[in-house]
Amino acid sequence: MEIELISGALGAEVKGIDLKDSSIENWNVINDLLLEHKVLFFRNQNITSEEQLNLARKFGPLERHIYVKGREKYPEILRIIKEPDEKQQWGETWHTDVSYNPKPTKVIMLRSIKIPPVGGDTMFSNMELAYETLDDEIKNKIDDKKAIHSSLGAAAFVDAYKAMEGNGNLKEYSNSHPVVRTHPETGKKILYVNSMYTKKILDLDEDESDHILNHIFKHQERLDFTCRFKWTENAVAIWDNRSTLHQGLTDFFPGRGLGHERVMDRIAIEGDNPQ
Ligand SMILES: [Fe+2]
Repeated sequence: MEIELISGALGAEVKGIDLKDSSIENWNVINDLLLEHKVLFFRNQNITSEEQLNLARKFGPLERHIYVKGREKYPEILRIIKEPDEKQQWGETWHTDVSYNPKPTKVIMLRSIKIPPVGGDTMFSNMELAYETLDDEIKNKIDDKKAIHSSLGAAAFVDAYKAMEGNGNLKEYSNSHPVVRTHPETGKKILYVNSMYTKKILDLDEDESDHILNHIFKHQERLDFTCRFKWTENAVAIWDNRSTLHQGLTDFFPGRGLGHERVMDRIAIEGDNPQ
């Protein structure tokens, strides 16, 4: 096995592991690496949808998206499609998946099916580092606070993207989670807000909440907390959705990435109630 660190902050590319192998021994190795590096990348993994599902199930029960339909034959796999002429793609701008749910996703396993020759890299950011490096003044203000996360509604996940199909749910809802959560497996503190879904810190007035959230959002985007993965076809990314933010870059410009389809298969594993 070979581990190549992607950046100084997080992420590792792993060679010598076959993701077809969903034995508990193989999963243990992968999970230990995941807790250490927070996001893992595997290239040239010619796995089937069943094999992707089998390995994903080792992390825990699978979760279905509240707004987007899964694949016909594999409802637990959500196919993310960017059509060739689309500039936008699903998952743009910094966020952590479904933080508006009572139990936000634990781990995501994303497999590339079709990748443009250039553009559409995915970036990740380390929220343990973001917490450690936050000013003490802000830490004192947020340590015992909760924040509201809102689901934004189906339109944000379906209407904005030509090939994404809704499941008929149009309800919008919110849940609150600690601003600083403790990782259930490592015991480390994590800054758990994101600019896409977090709307307000509870028990603070509107102005102070806005001020602190804007400060944190800017801090979370520091490039020295990030790593960036350039996709190839048949690659798999597995990330810890509790301790990271991510975004798919929408750098599809004419004469370069625009004009190419991008297709990914996403499986989400159910998380716990953040503490
Ligand atoms: Fe996402």
